[in-house]
Amino acid sequence: MKSLTFRIFINTFLVGVAVYFVCSVIFIDSFYKYFENQIFSELENECDYLSLLPNFADVKTENRITIIDFHGKVIFDNQTNPATMENHASRAEFIEAMEKGSAKVSRYSSTMLKKTLYFAKKLKNGTVLRISCQQYTSGVLIFALSQPLLCLLLLALIISGMAASSLSKKIADSIEKIDFDNPEKNETFIEFKPFIKRISDENFEKKQREEIRRQFSANVSHELKTPLTSISGFAEIMKSGSVDEKTMRNFSQDIYNESQRMILLVNDILKLSKLDEESITMEKEKICIEEICRDVIKSLKIFAQRKNVSIELESHTKDCIKGVPTVIQEMIFNLVENAIKYNKENGKVFVKIEKIEREKPYLKLLVKDTGIGIAENQQERIFERFYRIDKSRAKDTQGERTTGTGLGLSIVKHGAKYHNAKLSVKSKLGEGSEFSLLFPISSQSSDGR
Ligand SMILES: Nc1ncnc2c1ncn2[C@@H]1O[C@H](COP(=O)(O)OP(=O)(O)OP(=O)(O)O)[C@@H](O)[C@H]1O
Ligand SMILES: [Mg+2]
Repeated sequence: MKSLTFRIFINTFLVGVAVYFVCSVIFIDSFYKYFENQIFSELENECDYLSLLPNFADVKTENRITIIDFHGKVIFDNQTNPATMENHASRAEFIEAMEKGSAKVSRYSSTMLKKTLYFAKKLKNGTVLRISCQQYTSGVLIFALSQPLLCLLLLALIISGMAASSLSKKIADSIEKIDFDNPEKNETFIEFKPFIKRISDENFEKKQREEIRRQFSANVSHELKTPLTSISGFAEIMKSGSVDEKTMRNFSQDIYNESQRMILLVNDILKLSKLDEESITMEKEKICIEEICRDVIKSLKIFAQRKNVSIELESHTKDCIKGVPTVIQEMIFNLVENAIKYNKENGKVFVKIEKIEREKPYLKLLVKDTGIGIAENQQERIFERFYRIDKSRAKDTQGERTTGTGLGLSIVKHGAKYHNAKLSVKSKLGEGSEFSLLFPISSQSSDGR
């Protein structure tokens, strides 16, 4: 597991050390340059003073004095025998002094630990007077300072450790203080805002899911209770034996109708829960929508005739989609059944299949009717479980209850989601409705036509 304290510690420590090194380099460099300048000005002063003397042989100094003639030959040196010295004509300080009158030059010695500073001046008699001294290089200075530098490093280590542990404690404390039930009310670091927002979004979704589940159970119980109460009522009267044979037959028919309705309802609930459970994968295969539409229309023919509604099918494509046949069949059945059920006398239903090109190719299924239509503010709600616009409307002409449970469009919506299809509705109250489903055509499913 990663440690926040360690992370912060490493960061603070590295920043501290980096700042410390940069500062040290700048400081040592300027310090060193300052002393070098100081030495040069001392050398210059000494040179000025010496140039006034007639003879340097007796001068007592720690610095080295050399006199070079204008050919570069050393004619005097207070530390070495000039006869053993090489010609100095190529030395930088000699060339510069000859040209400009004076020169300041520094050179590293062979070990690089020391540096020699030269000040050279051209005298009136044409010779060059050179004074030099040795100085330690900055590397040696750093080495000499290594002890206090190490102490500072240790100090940086301790301070970063303390800063890291106090900062991570503050962060951990502020996370611990978050009230996960009311995350928006927390006063915390601004950086935690996205985290807080996610928690509150998740809380909201959880509440919504709970509410849907609660409503669903309430609705299921209610929907089951109504037919069961009727069945129980009929059976109770029949049990008393006081009913004649004709009434008995009527009651039996009613009991049969109510139990059929219950079976349909339970079937619908089972289908929905199967679609809802994303973990369950149903076998998908190549499906020809046109064929399914023909079957659906055939099975709803008598129902349509009873309502005097005509159905027309128009297909412009032979493309197939990949899907679960029973689910697709159920979806189309629900849409066409609604288009008949919520139609007017002598109304029409159009079913149209076509291929459309968006960013990808889609198979579009359109179910259009000339029925009663859906008000704008209801168009989203009709996809909710058990939602029916007007419950009294769900009775057919004979006054008997139709099998409507309000689950049909919910199944269509979940089936569409399961097949990555886009479901949309367009409707105008009193004029009719148009439901469309856009199924993506996968390359494998369209090549085998
Ligand atoms: N084509 C349509 N025209 C007008 N209203 C419609 C249409 N389709 C659906 N509706 C409205 O939307 C409601 C929900 O439809 P849904 O198919 O989910 O339930 P249902 O038809 O009442 O019952 P079920 O489909 O379970 O038998 C319907 O009760 C109806 O009021
Ligand atoms: Mg329906």
